[in-house]
Amino acid sequence: MEEISTIRSAEFLPDLAEYTLIQSAKVSQEAPSNIALVKYWGKKEIQIPTNSSLSFTLTKAKTKTEVGIEKKSGEGFEVVVYFEGNQNEKFKEKILKFFERIHPFVPFLQSYRFEIHTENTFPHSSGIASSASGFAALALCLVEIEILLGADFSPQKKQLKSSFLARLGSGSACRSVYKGLVYWGENPNIKGSNKRFAIEAPFEVAPVFKTFRDTILLIEEGQKKVSSTAGHALMENHPYRDRRFELAEENILKFQEIFKNGDLKAFVALVEQEALGLHSLMMTSSPPYLLMSTNTLVAINLIWEYRRQTDLPLCFTLDAGANLHLLYPESCQEEVGEFVKEMLAPLCSDKKYIEDTICW
Ligand code: DP6
Repeated sequence: MEEISTIRSAEFLPDLAEYTLIQSAKVSQEAPSNIALVKYWGKKEIQIPTNSSLSFTLTKAKTKTEVGIEKKSGEGFEVVVYFEGNQNEKFKEKILKFFERIHPFVPFLQSYRFEIHTENTFPHSSGIASSASGFAALALCLVEIEILLGADFSPQKKQLKSSFLARLGSGSACRSVYKGLVYWGENPNIKGSNKRFAIEAPFEVAPVFKTFRDTILLIEEGQKKVSSTAGHALMENHPYRDRRFELAEENILKFQEIFKNGDLKAFVALVEQEALGLHSLMMTSSPPYLLMSTNTLVAINLIWEYRRQTDLPLCFTLDAGANLHLLYPESCQEEVGEFVKEMLAPLCSDKKYIEDTICW
């Protein structure tokens, strides 16, 4: 097995002499969404995170992408993008920017006309970020094409290159090419850790975590008021920046212990601390901003009250938005299901929520 930590970006540069440019091909891939436990918040050029992150990969919430290629002559990129059956110019712009960025590592991009069809299993306006699953699915397709052209990748190299390319589309996307618990970043205590691609977290995981579920409360649908890109940029001059970056690394190591010994109380406390920590960074940015809505706060208080009464290991986390992800083991699925239906669904937009699981 290749020593992951020795792989440098240059090793993702293809050997063009090995390739045969076929006339046309079609590939399809899917990639799930992921939810971070330790949040990636702050980055350097290009898509290099300022701290490590750790995430769970979901099962049902995913993006399915089909890429057709047709040989062309001349320079430049030719791309047509269909989202849920309709041509989509906004996605095309994002993909062209992505192609510009990854071109040195995937030089056949200019030799083909690309027709990309993509769709999500979750509602488009649901407020679930589709950039992670979207860029991961597209990166997996491109690596698949590279293999059709002659690249000789081991299964491990295939995953690493997909993660490396996906990162250049959207940071959190690099974690979506793996199942289970995924780590991205550099921490001297974690073997194989690096900032250029994610790896399966090299942690021992107690069986209870393999039964975890994620119920996503769709509290606010539609576009975010402040994009993640803008949020990452505000970390550059953030007054709590240095301590936050240290804290994230400390939390990674705390999670390593928690996953090993199955301490659900400690898990609940740390997951919520990270989630509220992320939003406190937003509230103390310059300018400050809020992405939680009134109903997010009402729901958090209900969850805390419910936990006081039942002592069940149910916790919440948040991404850069108002929606809450409820994490809990399967053993309390029935009780939590009732609680969600009765108390939390009324706080959701059209009472909508998504019941998902962590995919191992
Ligand atoms: C709060 O991956 O969406 O979800 O790299 O600019 O595309 P870009 O940012 P993005 O940021 C995700 C931030 C987060 C935390 C996380 O998923 O780790």
